[in-house]
Amino acid sequence: MTIQLGIIGAGGIGQVHAKAASEAGHAAKVVCDLDGQRATEAAQPWGAEAMTDVDAMLARDDIDSIVVALPNCLHAPMACRALAAGKHVLLEKPMAMNVTECEDVITARDAAARLLQVGFVCRFAATVQAARRFIESGRLGRIYHARAAMYRRRGIPGLGRWFTTREQSGGGVMIDLGPHLVDLVLHLADRPEVVTANAVATSIFGSPLYEYRFTNMWAGPPDPEGTFDVEDGASVQLRCANDLTISLEMAWASHLPDGTLPDGVTLFGEQGAMHFDIWGDHILMGTEMDGELVDVKHQITEGEDWGTAFRRQHESFAANCGSSTAPTASAEDGREVQRVLEAMYASVAAGNSVQVAEAVNA
Ligand SMILES: NC(=O)c1ccc[n+]([C@@H]2O[C@H](COP(=O)([O-])OP(=O)(O)OC[C@H]3O[C@@H](n4cnc5c(N)ncnc54)[C@H](O)[C@@H]3O)[C@@H](O)[C@H]2O)c1
Repeated sequence: MTIQLGIIGAGGIGQVHAKAASEAGHAAKVVCDLDGQRATEAAQPWGAEAMTDVDAMLARDDIDSIVVALPNCLHAPMACRALAAGKHVLLEKPMAMNVTECEDVITARDAAARLLQVGFVCRFAATVQAARRFIESGRLGRIYHARAAMYRRRGIPGLGRWFTTREQSGGGVMIDLGPHLVDLVLHLADRPEVVTANAVATSIFGSPLYEYRFTNMWAGPPDPEGTFDVEDGASVQLRCANDLTISLEMAWASHLPDGTLPDGVTLFGEQGAMHFDIWGDHILMGTEMDGELVDVKHQITEGEDWGTAFRRQHESFAANCGSSTAPTASAEDGREVQRVLEAMYASVAAGNSVQVAEAVNA
């Protein structure tokens, strides 16, 4: 389906969306940001109009779908506004700041009878799509353990600004990289219910260490007057109702050389095991056949990078806008991921393992 797209938020990821939308064949008509210069810079390469007035953009009849690429605290409120204005919404991750906000978005979606897709872009990596095909064909048998990790050497986003200010972000690396990891594992394992969460979090590389001793990280220069009240590393254990156990590791910063520990997923099944780097070009599998141990390297043929996954995400969004079936990465999937994130934070606060159902309703 051809959609008439508007993008709200012209920061780092708004610009990636503008490029991906154009590559997917539905170049944005408008890019809107409070910062007019940013809006113009993101709009111009794709022939889009730059705007700074969100209400005026949402009132336009020639826009039927919206990407929300704003700071986390604005995700749910802006998604609700866009849905109420009759637009389909591709909402960046995390879906919201908490589960209550996810419910608000689902209510708004149902009232508007429009599409709400969550920006779980890792699902569109070629490795992940191939891995899912192998899993569906039964190569691994029952998956009993999953391990997923994202490590950065220097990657605290926008130190001192909204990403590192809990009130605006909802947290640090757990709510930033956590949504990708949690959704990815649940997606590959057919979305079992997560029942317990045990998380430990650290805050090592924020101000003042980063500011005074180490080189710059990404997302602009640090704001020395700004806030850093979030975690920059975490280690998480989850247990699911079907006995699947999940181990997650994530760090915004470390001293490890890039690539030492890739953005990797490892799945352990009764019939086979699998490992891949999400943004890599192959999948490794091991199994046993006729009494022999067998290793398989599945090469991903298509040239693959982050941008390709964003283009595929946009193709899926446009197709979902014209379809009555549940979208890839639905609001319900987003809410389930948010339940797990909320339980992870509750576990950090309690210093213990928590029951997800109790932590979320507390
Ligand atoms: N899917 C991914 O892999 C991925 C990667 C990076 C970021 N993200 C998500 O995308 C979101 C945005 O991240 P970012 O790195 O682009 O942040 P950013 O700070 O670079 O950009 C946010 C933009 O929103 C604008 N803005 C703020 N309030 C506004 C308002 N009320 N109306 C209009 N514009 C407003 C700001 O001026 C800024 O340009 C975050 O939620 C982040 O988690 C997702």
